[in-house]
Amino acid sequence: MKKLFVETYGCQMNVADSEVVASIMINAGYELTQQAAEADVIFVNTCSIRDNAEKRVRNRIQEFKALKRINPQLKVGILGCMAERLKNQLLEEEIFVDLIAGPDAYRNLPEMINQLQDGRQMANVVLSLEETYDDISPVRLDKNGVSAFISIMRGCDNYCAYCVVPFTRGHERSRNPQTIVAEAMDLISKGYKEVTLLGQNVNSYHWSDSSEKINFSELLKKVAAINPNLRVRFSTSHPKDISDELIETIAETPNICNSIHLPVQSGNNEVLKRMKRFYTREWYLDRIALIKKLIPDCGLSTDIIAGFCGETEEEHQDTVSLMKEVGYDYAFMFMYSERPDTLAAKKLDDDVEVKVKNRRLQEIIEVQQASSLANNKKDLGKIFSVLVEAVSKRSKSQFSGRTDQNKVMVFETNDAKIGDYVRVRALSCTAATMIGEIVE
Ligand code: SAH
Ligand code: SF4
Ligand code: F3S
Repeated sequence: MKKLFVETYGCQMNVADSEVVASIMINAGYELTQQAAEADVIFVNTCSIRDNAEKRVRNRIQEFKALKRINPQLKVGILGCMAERLKNQLLEEEIFVDLIAGPDAYRNLPEMINQLQDGRQMANVVLSLEETYDDISPVRLDKNGVSAFISIMRGCDNYCAYCVVPFTRGHERSRNPQTIVAEAMDLISKGYKEVTLLGQNVNSYHWSDSSEKINFSELLKKVAAINPNLRVRFSTSHPKDISDELIETIAETPNICNSIHLPVQSGNNEVLKRMKRFYTREWYLDRIALIKKLIPDCGLSTDIIAGFCGETEEEHQDTVSLMKEVGYDYAFMFMYSERPDTLAAKKLDDDVEVKVKNRRLQEIIEVQQASSLANNKKDLGKIFSVLVEAVSKRSKSQFSGRTDQNKVMVFETNDAKIGDYVRVRALSCTAATMIGEIVE
């Protein structure tokens, strides 16, 4: 049997896509390997979100080139967002790469591989208006068997000025809800305890056909209703679309986790306008206020970009003050990186010096560290329901898992097993982790 090695970069959606790719390839007669050196086919599922994400992949590709020298039969394919963004240019620049396939072309992978003849390269970067891979049962590449991703939609129509995703993933389309529910039920039957529903903007999920019409809140309820022991999470919400109905649904449904990732990007209205985010600071803070009112213990996280085009010191300080006002538990923080073809690349000057971007990023990181630590300290002494996910990285006698609010908790083992829910009292913490003990 031929062996396939898959390596994934980028977001959770890429992780979910690699699971679809693995399934397609296994159906075509391949088996997976964890060792690149023994593979017949290597797929690298790539990310274009920032320049350094692409650089990392380019470096890794050089390592696969060395493997190809040892085994000339080896086929190397570049999948995902870089393949889509660069198209044939990537094949010209990386001449030893055998194929490139964009995110909507994965069904054709086995056929493309079969058609590769010596030295010939193949490319399929056609984007689709319909493809959701809804009939494909992903092969789970995670190791814990507890928590899985379910992709509920693909693409994005928001065209935020800085963002490459609409160009690499194509138009937004939602997946048939019956297939989503079926996938969740299948996961439960295999022992999974948590699913995360994925899309670039899950709030705009919508589906209608002759038998049903359903929005995101309704979909969440449907998935949560399958089994009260299944934890349901979702990612990502665009602030402009997060509805009262969704916040109420989370508040009312015990097994929809009290955790919301709501990327703000900037705390300043002029910057938000330049970013084409279509909400204001006031709107965002109003959404946060409703979340805090209806779900008082809700975990909150965000994404922030430091040094977007034209960002002044005052505008940056608005981001800092918003972070302090919200008090996030966690944040993904980035320096702005201009992406070719985006609106910002075409119309705005990337005029904040790298040195300044970096200083602002450091300031933002420090504010977040303080906020994470303060929030964790507030939780000391409280008891949380934790889903046991893995043996802790640091010590074999410890488990790690997450609370409903998505905080990482580490605790000493008793006779609990991976996949169990345990009650854990938080005893101490760092900014990143809570340390606790199991209570009976
Ligand atoms: N769909 C999600 C975000 C996907 S990309 C959403 O809208 O929330 C993940 C994060 O990467 C974004 O939220 C943003 O903070 C960051 N990002 C996207 N493009 C970027 C760029 N050009 N430079 C720096 N960070 C960027
Ligand atoms: Fe990118 Fe904006 Fe779409 Fe998110 S919503 S993927 S940031 S364009
Ligand atoms: Fe990266 Fe593509 Fe995801 S650009 S963040 S892998 S959608």
